[in-house]
Amino acid sequence: MERIKVTRAVLPDLAEYTDEIRELWDSHWITNMGIKHDELQKLLEEYLEVKHVSLLCNGHMALENALEALEIPSGSEIITTPFTFASTVHAIVRKGYKPVFCDIRTEDYTIDTTKLETLISDKTSAILPVHVYGNVCDVDAIGEVAKRHGLKVIYDAAHAFGVRYKGRSVFAYGDASIISFHATKVFNTIEGGAVCHADGGLTDKLYELMNFGIRSEESITSVGGNAKMNEFCAAMGICNLRHIDEEIGKRKAVYERYVSNLGGVDGITLNKYGPDITPNYSYFPVLLDNRDQVFERLAQSGIDARKYFYPIASEYECYKDSFDSSKTPVALDVSRKILTLPMYGDLSPEDVDRICGIVSGEA
Ligand SMILES: Cc1ncc(COP(=O)(O)O)c(C=O)c1O
Repeated sequence: MERIKVTRAVLPDLAEYTDEIRELWDSHWITNMGIKHDELQKLLEEYLEVKHVSLLCNGHMALENALEALEIPSGSEIITTPFTFASTVHAIVRKGYKPVFCDIRTEDYTIDTTKLETLISDKTSAILPVHVYGNVCDVDAIGEVAKRHGLKVIYDAAHAFGVRYKGRSVFAYGDASIISFHATKVFNTIEGGAVCHADGGLTDKLYELMNFGIRSEESITSVGGNAKMNEFCAAMGICNLRHIDEEIGKRKAVYERYVSNLGGVDGITLNKYGPDITPNYSYFPVLLDNRDQVFERLAQSGIDARKYFYPIASEYECYKDSFDSSKTPVALDVSRKILTLPMYGDLSPEDVDRICGIVSGEA
């Protein structure tokens, strides 16, 4: 029997993709903001209901470049959570800022806004909350705290493609949000990412940062790097966007089957979506008292689950000497119990039932 992976890249029909890239053979224009790049950018601005989408080669570079474009002072402190993917914290550190870790909420693993203000110092410049698993942070409280203290807000919305909150795109909040279009995400461009923002002024800064600071052929105005999205990735995005609502619909059915099998089972806590959230069903995280045993049982049955996120960032080898992970007890506890189960639109109901049998200890 084929192994069940924790996720599976969404791909269009091969013919649809080859049709999409045919023009690239005619023009020989395969990167540097070509027609596919521009088309995808416009389509995403419409789909995500944001004023500006700047496309990049991946979500991580979107994060690094967003921090720089927002002109957050070098050496300042940025408040985030340790319960995230390495990219969030690495971006802060690699750009010369100091991460300050805030604990998370038990109910949805996003930043605990009741603890935010105690972490603000005269060095704090920004808050970088994570819409983890596509759950939505308390954007209203974060906005109020940021306003009170004059802080920038950049959302790591890598997991939140298409998510809505109170009927509004989740990307409408904060000074900027970044998304990942990595192959493992609900919507992919193979590798890719974007910064979403309402401030048109950021577009030029992001453009220069992703394209060597080049303004025109004879004018190089800033010290930018290279983080452009190429035409093949953009073409994949155009194809996948045609089918995104169908993919999210299929994931919803998988989610509902999981919930009907595992809801109410002793020792298993499911991720709940609040009434104000329109989810994208990007992950299926569960909290388990016997997480490591279940992980092993699944692996032995040919099923790959993922301890996502374990360890928390403050426990990484590269950070553990600089941080005290006991200061974020909820994040620490969740990281020791969390398991994300296989989730993708084409996961069959029979496979979901088999996974649930193993997770609940019945099989
Ligand atoms: C929370 C979070 N932030 C940032 C990233 C970075 O995105 P990418 O892999 O596209 O560079 C990821 C990627 O998986 C992520 O999960």
